[in-house]
Amino acid sequence: MTTATSTASKGLEGVVAAESKMSFIDGNLGILEYVGIPIAALAENSTFEETVFLLWNGRLPKRAELDEFVAQIRAQYPLPKELIDIITSFPKTAEPMHVLRTGVSALSLWDRTPDAITPDDVHAKGISMMAKMPGILTTFDRYRQGKPIVPPDRSLSFAANLMYMLNGEKPTRTMEKALDVCLILHTDHGLNASTFTARVIASTLSDVYSAISGAIGALRGPLHGGANEGVMHMLHEIGSLANVEPFIRDRLEKHEKVMGFGHRVYKTRDPRAMFLKSFSKKLAEQTGNSKLYEMSRKIEDLMDAAVGSRGIYPNVDFYSATTYHCIGLKLDLFTPMFAISRIGGWLGHVIEQQDGNRLIRPKADYIGPHDQPYIPIDER
Ligand code: ACO
Repeated sequence: MTTATSTASKGLEGVVAAESKMSFIDGNLGILEYVGIPIAALAENSTFEETVFLLWNGRLPKRAELDEFVAQIRAQYPLPKELIDIITSFPKTAEPMHVLRTGVSALSLWDRTPDAITPDDVHAKGISMMAKMPGILTTFDRYRQGKPIVPPDRSLSFAANLMYMLNGEKPTRTMEKALDVCLILHTDHGLNASTFTARVIASTLSDVYSAISGAIGALRGPLHGGANEGVMHMLHEIGSLANVEPFIRDRLEKHEKVMGFGHRVYKTRDPRAMFLKSFSKKLAEQTGNSKLYEMSRKIEDLMDAAVGSRGIYPNVDFYSATTYHCIGLKLDLFTPMFAISRIGGWLGHVIEQQDGNRLIRPKADYIGPHDQPYIPIDER
């Protein structure tokens, strides 16, 4: 006998599983706000550090508060020497997302109170983890290329220091702003798969290192944060403007997904994609990558005509791929960059989860058989 019907919501679609004061998303009108402030206003005027303060504290900081927050982050840029030794003993062929997940998890080993989860503890550990993620990634990236490790520069912003440690030279103001905008736009987005993962782990009263390394694991999947790398692979595979149309038509005919399109929540244009579209256009022109932008535009037009009426539009990953390429990031650093930005949201949600926590424990509809005999192993 099997259960006839299941009440399960596949993919938990439409299920409200938490309350949050961070992101407001209207997927039909294409609105995204952090603590009530439209995302475009933050991308234009704020910095990543200030936006993270906003998410963790529910308000914009005063100047002195921001200065202090920035100073706390910069003080935490350096990695423990032993962690650098460990990272520089990894196989050079390792995938950077595995390195990032492992490095974040390893940070718990140098924390004397890794399990402390009061709001103050979580803030302090969050600052340390966020400040050190660029070091984990850049140390590995330079080591795998046989280049000397670049120590952090505490005079630089989060975005500028990240690029400095990666490339060994300070970025131009345009490049720093481009990365900062990407960090802001990616830092929180409601109860997405990786954020939900972080909240589930936090709800067991486990430590923040476990919550964040679990979230990194969820983010790397191609249906979630891994899609930005998928977009770039796709653009490389297409290769030319002339090949865009046959490629997209072929994908759609075979019922294969076009990376960087579609979203569980947005049934109209993703406001982050809209912002990045105009931003990446300018950046592509400035960096000699206009062909890439033109290919993206053509893909968008074709997808609009083919599946726009079904609510399938570019998501944040579509134009962030072009943006990351224009600022000179290697392909396999796209998703780690997303993870570094999402720490703001993940930590904020861990703080919210721990405030009035209740264990997250949904149930499954059992749809298997009942009353089965146990058959001895030699008789099966
Ligand atoms: N290309 C072509 N068709 C698509 C796409 C796409 N990118 N996305 C959805 N569809 C179609 C599906 O084929 C399906 O069609 P069907 O009903 O005829 O079978 C229908 O739309 C519904 O698709 P689902 O995958 O069930 O919708 P869901 O809400 O689960 O999808 C998701 C959301 C996973 C993001 C999906 O759109 C997708 O796989 N997109 C490509 C990967 C991607 O860009 N992910 C990044 C998301 S944003 C982020 O995580 C930061």
